[in-house]
Amino acid sequence: MNGSADGGLEEFRAPLQTREIQRELLTKRLGKKFHYLSEIDSTNAYARERAQGGAAEGEIVIAEEQTHGKGRAGRGWISPPYLNLYLSVILRPHLSPANASQITLMSAVALAETVQSFISYPPEIKWPNDIIIGGKKLAGILTESSCESDKTLFVVLGIGVNLNFPLELMPESLQKIATSIMILTQKPVDRMLFARRLIQDLDRCYVDLEERGFSLMAKRWESFFGLRGKRVRVEMLQEPIFGKALGIDGAGALIVEDDEGTMRKIIAGDVIPVGPEAQ
Ligand code: BTN
Repeated sequence: MNGSADGGLEEFRAPLQTREIQRELLTKRLGKKFHYLSEIDSTNAYARERAQGGAAEGEIVIAEEQTHGKGRAGRGWISPPYLNLYLSVILRPHLSPANASQITLMSAVALAETVQSFISYPPEIKWPNDIIIGGKKLAGILTESSCESDKTLFVVLGIGVNLNFPLELMPESLQKIATSIMILTQKPVDRMLFARRLIQDLDRCYVDLEERGFSLMAKRWESFFGLRGKRVRVEMLQEPIFGKALGIDGAGALIVEDDEGTMRKIIAGDVIPVGPEAQ
C-alpha cells in the first residue's frame, strides 16, 4: 500500500463491467439479466422490489456501493465503493417455505468453492452462512424469502464478499473480526473474474439442489463446516444453548447436542465457538 488517502487502491477500483461478466457467463439459470448500479441502499431491497413486480428467476443486481447494506439479524453490511462485491440474485425455487433455508446453505457451499479457487487458505462455513478464514469473516449471505401458504414465491439471495477491502479502510470494530481476499493474499483480486466465477458456482449448486435434492448438498456443506464436534453457544431469541455442534439435518437446521445430552434443532440463531476449543 502506498501513502495516498485511500491506501493507493485507485488502480484496483475499476468499475465492474457487467456486460463482460455476462458475455462469457456459463450458466443455465442465473444471469440472463443484470442490473448494474453505481450506488443503491441495498441490492437485496432493489432485487426484492423487482421480484415483487414479477421479475424472472436468475436476475442479478450488482452495486458498486451500498448506503444501507443489510446483514443478518437487523445488522448492517459495510459496503464501501468499488472495493468489494455486493450482489443479489432472484430465485424462484421449487421448495416449501420450511425448506427455503436450503438456499442459504447451498449458496454458502457455492461461495466457499469460489473462494477456494482464489486463495490457498481453506475457507470454513460458520452455520448457516458466514464464510470464515483464519477465524475472520470474509463474506456473508442474507436470504430473504416471500412465501404464500405452502409455496415459496421467491428468494432474494444477497451475498457480500470483502475482496479488495484493505485493513486500513475498515472501521476499527471490523478490523478484529473481518478479512478480505486482498488482506489474505497481499494482492488485489480481479472483481469481475470473482463475480463471474461466483455466479457460475451458484448456478451449478442451485441446479444440483433443484435436480438432485439437498442430501448431497448437505454433505458438501458439512465438508466446510468448521465447528463440527466443537463446543458452541447458540444465541437465539430465547435463552442461549450450550453444547456440541454435530452438523445439519435434511432441512438445513443445525443439530446441537446440548449440555444435558438432548439433541436440539436450531433453525435460526448465531453459533459461537466457546471454551478451550474456540479459535
Ligand atoms: C451477514 O450478515 O453476514 C449477511 C451479509 C449480506 C450482505 C449482502 S451485500 C449484498 C446484499 N445486499 C444487502 O443489503 N445485503 C446483502
